Amino acid sequence: MSNGKESTAVASEGLRGVVAAQSAIGDVNGEQGILIYQGYNIHDLAEHSTFEEVVFLLWNGRLPKAEELADFKGRLRRNYEVPPQVIEMMKSFPKDADPMDVLRTAVSSLDFYDENGHGTDREQAVKAAVRITGQIGTIAAAWDRIRNGKDVIAPDKNLSIAENFLYMLRGERADQDEEHIFDVCLILHADHELNASTFTTRVVAGTLAGMYGAVTAGVAALAGPLHGGANTNVMKMLLEINDPAKIDTWLDQALAEKRKIMGIGHAVYKTEDPRATWLRKFSKQMADKKGEQKWFTMSQAIEKAMLDKKGMYPNVDFYSASTYYLMGIPLDLYTPIFAVSRISGWTGHILEQYGHNKLIRPRAEYIGARDQKYTPIDQR
Ligand code: COA
Repeated sequence: MSNGKESTAVASEGLRGVVAAQSAIGDVNGEQGILIYQGYNIHDLAEHSTFEEVVFLLWNGRLPKAEELADFKGRLRRNYEVPPQVIEMMKSFPKDADPMDVLRTAVSSLDFYDENGHGTDREQAVKAAVRITGQIGTIAAAWDRIRNGKDVIAPDKNLSIAENFLYMLRGERADQDEEHIFDVCLILHADHELNASTFTTRVVAGTLAGMYGAVTAGVAALAGPLHGGANTNVMKMLLEINDPAKIDTWLDQALAEKRKIMGIGHAVYKTEDPRATWLRKFSKQMADKKGEQKWFTMSQAIEKAMLDKKGMYPNVDFYSASTYYLMGIPLDLYTPIFAVSRISGWTGHILEQYGHNKLIRPRAEYIGARDQKYTPIDQR
């Protein structure tokens, strides 16, 4: 009997090379190391744009005019505040809870306080996207304060998302260099075509589930160590090695044990990840600023060794680790920060999915048994 599949259909492991959606949001050229958002090269955006402008671009397919950007920033800022019930709920969580688990639960609960949160028409979905984009950084920063027994710092509507995040985390403004670096970090992490978490959000949105559910699923997918969790693990690796002289031995042993070196390699890029080019620069800039070269020097040595030994390049997570470390950001907040940025790509893709929706329902190549006879339980 036909199962509706070509008899020769073979699964592509990890869906590598499978084109699963049409999208105008972003494109990755893995051979040449080019990343574009809505046609704009990431280098151009990192050089000239701001995170808020990039969010507008991803959602609308064009750069905003001055008054549109001002209006858009105003909308985001009016939504920085998280419902007090969510903050109260977070206060009841175990203090050692993983910040990504906290983020996932808190983002999911935002749905209760948005009466139109399930709307999938463009206007309502954009409203929900604005709310989550405004609030996700507030949640991540609030959790760090709560778990350390500190007062939650209310967001400041005069600040950008990047400025505000660092302010809410520290309780005081960061200096301009750090705020700028952080803003560009948000630009660099904003979208990356059908990466695992973005694909997840599209699958959920494809069922016409609401924006909050789709984003919650994206947060869950991003948490994994092979995806957004890699940046934290890069810093753990650097701290574990802790001595430039030990790098070679450490790497040889890790590779002999077939361990993956975090922050190295990519499913699509076969050359330098263009985001790593910026983050390498920022890691060096922070090293100079703080007078602490160790982590940058070690990162460079690991980069070189992995190129020599395996022909592999650093990805976005590699140098973001030492950059954030020297900003004094706790290790386990690196992945939530990724989410504070990637929310823009997720919501952009969800809006695109709602706009031309088709339920995402692939097939599996069945490799199990057939024609089994049911045996009653007392005869097994
Ligand atoms: N360190 C050491 N070896 C690596 C490696 C790494 N970081 N990444 C891939 N490899 C090796 C694999 O062991 C495998 O070797 P083999 O053929 O001898 O078994 C080969 O390269 C292919 O690896 P595979 O995992 O199939 O490639 P992929 O395209 O699926 O992997 C990643 C992409 C990103 C999942 C992978 O490179 C990785 O796990 N990197 C570390 C985690 C990370 O930084 N993730 C963030 C991505 S932005």
